[in-house]
Amino acid sequence: MSNGADLLRMNRRTACGGLLAGLAMGLASAPAISQVLPKVVGKSFRLDSPHATYAFGVNERGQLQSLYWGAPLAAGDPLPPAIAAKELSSNELASTMTPFEFAGFGGGLTTEPALKVTLPDGTRDLELRYVDHRIEAGALIIHLRDITTAIDVHLRYAMDQSTGLVIRSAVVENNTRDWIQVDQLAAGNINLPAAEDYRLHYLAGRWSAEWQLQSRAVTPGSTVIESRRGVTSHQANPWLAIGRDDVAEESGAVWFAALGWSGSWRMTVDRDAIGAVRASAGYNPFDFSYRLRPGETLASPNLYLGFSGDGFGGASRLFHRYQRAEILPGVGHVRPRPVLYNSWEATQFDVTEAGQIALAEKAASIGCERFVMDDGWFGARDSDKAGLGDWTVNRRKFPNGLGPLIRRVKALGMDFGLWVEPEMVNPDSDLYRAHPDWVINFPGRPRTEARQQLVLNLARRDVCDHILTLLDKLLTENDIAFIKWDHNRNWSEPGWPEAAPAEQQKIYVDYVDNLYALIAELRRRHPRVEIESCASGGGRVDLGIMRLTDQVWVSDNTDPYDRMSIQDGFSRAYTPAIMMAWVTDSPNWVNKRSTPLDYRFLSSMQGALGIGANLHHWTAEDFATARAMIAAYKRIRSTVQQGDLYRLLPARKEGDRSATLSVSPDRRQAALFAFTRSTTMRETAMPVTLLGLDPARRYAMTLIAGEVAPGTPAQASGAFWMGRGVDFVMTGDFRGCAVRFDAV
Ligand code: DGJ
Repeated sequence: MSNGADLLRMNRRTACGGLLAGLAMGLASAPAISQVLPKVVGKSFRLDSPHATYAFGVNERGQLQSLYWGAPLAAGDPLPPAIAAKELSSNELASTMTPFEFAGFGGGLTTEPALKVTLPDGTRDLELRYVDHRIEAGALIIHLRDITTAIDVHLRYAMDQSTGLVIRSAVVENNTRDWIQVDQLAAGNINLPAAEDYRLHYLAGRWSAEWQLQSRAVTPGSTVIESRRGVTSHQANPWLAIGRDDVAEESGAVWFAALGWSGSWRMTVDRDAIGAVRASAGYNPFDFSYRLRPGETLASPNLYLGFSGDGFGGASRLFHRYQRAEILPGVGHVRPRPVLYNSWEATQFDVTEAGQIALAEKAASIGCERFVMDDGWFGARDSDKAGLGDWTVNRRKFPNGLGPLIRRVKALGMDFGLWVEPEMVNPDSDLYRAHPDWVINFPGRPRTEARQQLVLNLARRDVCDHILTLLDKLLTENDIAFIKWDHNRNWSEPGWPEAAPAEQQKIYVDYVDNLYALIAELRRRHPRVEIESCASGGGRVDLGIMRLTDQVWVSDNTDPYDRMSIQDGFSRAYTPAIMMAWVTDSPNWVNKRSTPLDYRFLSSMQGALGIGANLHHWTAEDFATARAMIAAYKRIRSTVQQGDLYRLLPARKEGDRSATLSVSPDRRQAALFAFTRSTTMRETAMPVTLLGLDPARRYAMTLIAGEVAPGTPAQASGAFWMGRGVDFVMTGDFRGCAVRFDAV
């Protein structure tokens, strides 16, 4: 039998051999810097931080059950004892009544299992009992085992001291003498305190309309949010929050959960037959199975659980802080996002050396720090019909390779970034002609194309090795500081013909593990290269990919008004430190809406600013506006990206007004943005009061854009700005104002 502790240290393993073999990824269970030491009393376990307490224990049947999760308890507070549930009726067995921390499907369980297995003789019954526990690198490891079969589960719990975030995962270990098949695996079950009026909040949408906040009562029955698409998806994101009916933006108790997984995933929220509210999160069991040979293991994704007593705003501030401190590359020292220029909306596939240099010169003149050439530079890529897979420079467009463009970009004082879509292939490509078997497919069945492309099977080691070799070469031969890693379609026909039929569904896990290993290895070889996760916009944003990428492309929808509700939704889960937002042309391609340039800038300045407009169409006045806005942004950049975000007036689809405030961690600077879609009936004033400042400190106010009411003081205390606030003057359509506050 292998040692479960080693398995947990090993983190996620990779099925990708060859060039990636032996890679120590250090991903899923990297110990948090400020980890809480678990308290163990008998067989009760308790994690305490100033933000939350999480507790569970072993009942007299040896089952692990939840005891408490919520606002921090006092050190001496007693925990309720772990007492095994009793059968309520012949239809509500004890297993249904028990608030399991990690339920196996068996013993009559009718609630959502965390683990379901099938044995070679057809047995599908698993009853997990506590064996022992240990503390390793600050994390609590609980060992469970089935009552009759040598199936072991190692649960890992860690709590981050400074945010109260609990990080949970599970490893299933087959210690039988035969194979077992995992049909379903979640990181764990979650049990909420008893209450009648919970509401579930989650993010849903579609391409160009991602991140729309949804809210519904948790009534009897089950809510499933999921991706069956092979990738995180635009349709839903693996984040949810649950609060009582009266939770507001800045008040009330909020429990939230996020799954770090970039493949097909599922989260469930149930109010069950006895009224208990429970949730689970893990691999999507739809079309899933994972066969383990003797001695093999399967790890779940990490599940991140947080609690805030300060409403949705408090919850997202905690989570953002955690992401910057513990998740993003450079943990705790996350590099500020440079102001970038991206060529996509300006030139699409029509990229040439001269054309890109002309854009780069204009981008540098307004203060851009990075120039990114998007799609179209490689193979026979004149449209989306051909070329994906052939990652050699198109010599018709770049007769001397990328060198002359990169040298010019660098001479202009910017660094250079390049678009790639390594997981994809067009059937019209040399790669596909040579290796038609490299794509995900079922033999003899149609291969459904999307955007004329197919998905390479990264579960195959030769495919991974090929991608690693070509990207390594690209980064070695060219002075590239940044790659935008795109992924423009969901999966179809998810076959892996080279694997045995009983092993093929491993593709859902092995593909993603190999993707992570591939990016990790690329970063190891090229540690200065930064990466953006893009999937036709925001189709691959989650805490799994965020460990490996420095920023994300939130949506292809760059309309500045639409974008604000998209950004609002995004910020519920993820930090503005990675939220790329471009200023593009007006009318916008999405909806033909016309908006002023300063409004477009202010919309994008609430995240990591980029420019995606065709600068050849700009007037001298536009250039002056852009120069001023970019200079102003650089003075607030670290506050916007690294500060605490307050959604003072949350932006909503079709909403009229919105306002956000970012306050630096030391509370010495704040940046306030306010917007109106349209004023009516001679409205002119938009009053906004601030939050999060130091009431006793004095702050000077500097106007970035727009207008404040006459008589607004140039300096006042934090108490004044939070009590009286600022009256913005706004008349017309698509107006925005912004001010900066600096401690004096
Ligand atoms: C989809 C991305 O979201 C866009 O920004 C752009 O990079 C295109 N792909 C290029 O094909």
